[in-house]
Amino acid sequence: MYTTTVIQTLRPCAAPGTPAGAFFQDVVRGLSAMPKHLDSKYFYDAEGDRLFQEIMHCKEYYLTDCEMEIMQEQAAAIAAALSSQSGHFDLVELGPGDATKSIHLLRQLLQTGADFTYYPIDISANVISQLEKALPAQLPGLQMQGMNGEYFDMLLQVNAQSQHPKVLLFMGANIGNFTPLAAGKFCRHLYHSMHPGDMILVGFDLKKHPQIILNAYNDSAGYTREFNLNLLRRINRELHADFDPALFEHYPVYDPGTGACKSYLVSLQKQVVHIGDEVEVHFDLHEPIYMEISQKYSHEDIAQLAAQSGFEPVTEFSDQRQWFADCLWKRV
Ligand code: AVJ
Repeated sequence: MYTTTVIQTLRPCAAPGTPAGAFFQDVVRGLSAMPKHLDSKYFYDAEGDRLFQEIMHCKEYYLTDCEMEIMQEQAAAIAAALSSQSGHFDLVELGPGDATKSIHLLRQLLQTGADFTYYPIDISANVISQLEKALPAQLPGLQMQGMNGEYFDMLLQVNAQSQHPKVLLFMGANIGNFTPLAAGKFCRHLYHSMHPGDMILVGFDLKKHPQIILNAYNDSAGYTREFNLNLLRRINRELHADFDPALFEHYPVYDPGTGACKSYLVSLQKQVVHIGDEVEVHFDLHEPIYMEISQKYSHEDIAQLAAQSGFEPVTEFSDQRQWFADCLWKRV
């Protein structure tokens, strides 16, 4: 049994209502839990964004290439399916990143004269301001309004501000960062944020040979390892902790039975880590921190997720190798 003591005596370094306060509280809660865990949404500070770019460009991480192939080769078919409703619609993208994949779809929609407004929603102010600078220059005539905030808060805001039918984009296999149970709840919540006839395009990484999946989360250049260790460094930087990243080993596993790919950081010795002056986290030898899930789906899993959350599958777009699928669902 691992013994774990977290002593939290004094006030946190930032007020609980502030972003830094929430980060502190989530980190302390996660490292006090049994087993220890951290929330993968905190991977994406400036350095994490940079490392994720490196991951997307490394040869083992096939996901980006697959979805890029789908967007490049099938933009016309996707655009036709999305704009099947006549009249103006709102295209709302959850977590657009640098939009290098969705830009193919946006360009196609503009070329075919579709009448739409693009609303990228992201928690990162940096992502939104970059898009607002870059996209109008690359896509003349694009109507867009960036939304900086949490998905559901911003969806409410778009709904309050526009009555037009909605098409949501949730690409990049971001749904994989939920457990199947949490993905069901998330989709159900999306369903309730949409109106009958609205549609959503969801990107899923498909189940495939287990070694191919495991390698994608264990690249030989070590970007994924650094991406995980960067969260310890971020905690050091922002919460004044003293993690020594050299004392933790990146350990990804893939279970072909469940489709769950999980990443752990394993403590290489018995050690105590301090967060600020107030928190002590005790690690036993070989005690893991659960960092991230990247859930993989079969076609049956996807159909079940759609059905359980109330969506009706319309069509799907896949790459040549059938490694990835962008699935279009209708809110009935
Ligand atoms: C951005 C959530 C799709 O799970 O594949 C990449 C993040 N983590 N390598 C994924 C990630 C490690 C990625 N998603």
